[in-house]
Amino acid sequence: METKFWDLKKDPHRAIEEAAALIRAGEVVAFPTETVYGLGADGLNGTAVAKVFAAKGRPADNPLILHVSAKEQIRNLTTGLSANAQALIDTFWPGPLTVVVPKAPCVPDETSAGLDTVAVRMPSHPVANAFIAACGCPVAAPSANISGKPSPTNAADVAEDMTGKIAGILDGGSCGIGVESTVVDTTSPVPTILRPGGITREMLESLLGAVEIDPALSGNPAVRPKAPGMKYRHYAPKAPLYIYEGPESAMRLVQAVERAARQGIRTGVLCDDRTEKELQALLGRTGCVAILSWGADKADLAETLYTQLRKFDRFSPSVILGMGVSETGLGLAVMNRMRKAAGFNILLARDGQVTIRSGSGFPDYMLG
Ligand code: TXA
Ligand code: MG
Repeated sequence: METKFWDLKKDPHRAIEEAAALIRAGEVVAFPTETVYGLGADGLNGTAVAKVFAAKGRPADNPLILHVSAKEQIRNLTTGLSANAQALIDTFWPGPLTVVVPKAPCVPDETSAGLDTVAVRMPSHPVANAFIAACGCPVAAPSANISGKPSPTNAADVAEDMTGKIAGILDGGSCGIGVESTVVDTTSPVPTILRPGGITREMLESLLGAVEIDPALSGNPAVRPKAPGMKYRHYAPKAPLYIYEGPESAMRLVQAVERAARQGIRTGVLCDDRTEKELQALLGRTGCVAILSWGADKADLAETLYTQLRKFDRFSPSVILGMGVSETGLGLAVMNRMRKAAGFNILLARDGQVTIRSGSGFPDYMLG
């Protein structure tokens, strides 16, 4: 299939009209949102939605989010909103928040993966909004990556995964937030975070009071996540990734990288700006195959994490060592993604020592 590519800097109105016409004809089009790029189809057309699953290679038991362009459009998709759901919508829409609500009969099983609930979100990205409005239907859209790869945050990354598989890609530049929306189940008495994201736990708590976090997010493989998609390994680069967490993570990471370099191991490093500079000064260009910085703070980390994880594949390191952040604010979302990418191989650096937080098979040079 030929994939049309629209540069929105040129003739945005025409591009959006053409893309929306393809959606109405039952085709699949990728579009930018403020979180990550989405792979859109008419969410009320089961045949169109099936094409999204085929393009991604997505397991059929993993439901899609329906994207709307106005708050009141959720009324047609649900049998009723709880007071919590209404408060969330009033406060955080448009924005990076997805609410799980009881499903109306018009939502096909292909979209909800047979569940009796449906996930709905109203994005704040102007292109997403104009596109969904032009489609004239709720747009079912997962992240626009091949299943298992990091979500795309720019159109080139979408093109890498989707060229030849979908009808078109709307290029609206880079996504500002960089990690997916927060998914909140509003059907339980206490609202539950099924996937942490751009709207933080602290923001939810200040509105609703108590909020629960799906216990499966801790990474314990014995607990089954309530969001079906959260059980899959995700966001993973090809090389194994190991994460240092804790207050002494930067120092321990640098020491491990030096030891790896001495052993001639093809090491990739994912760290903040300061640690990157320190490593460049210590090792020069020869010590590592790639030292990729995520920036200075958690917002930078959210924005750049997926692009950097994708970049490592181009350097083919034999191992990647990464540096984590604390789980407050956006840290909860980024650490959820980083830990999954690392298959929960996590080291804890504090009180002058390195211990294994979870995982196995750590080489000696990592433990020091
Ligand atoms: O930011 C985002 O949410 C992006 C952009 C494109 O909007 N979309 C996105 O979609 O990340 P996707 O399909 O990659 O992730 C949706 C997550 C999955 O973990 C899925 O299992 C969960 O939401 N989900 C969808 N419907 C659900 C439901 N009815 N109950 C529980 N979890 C649900
Ligand atoms: Mg996804």
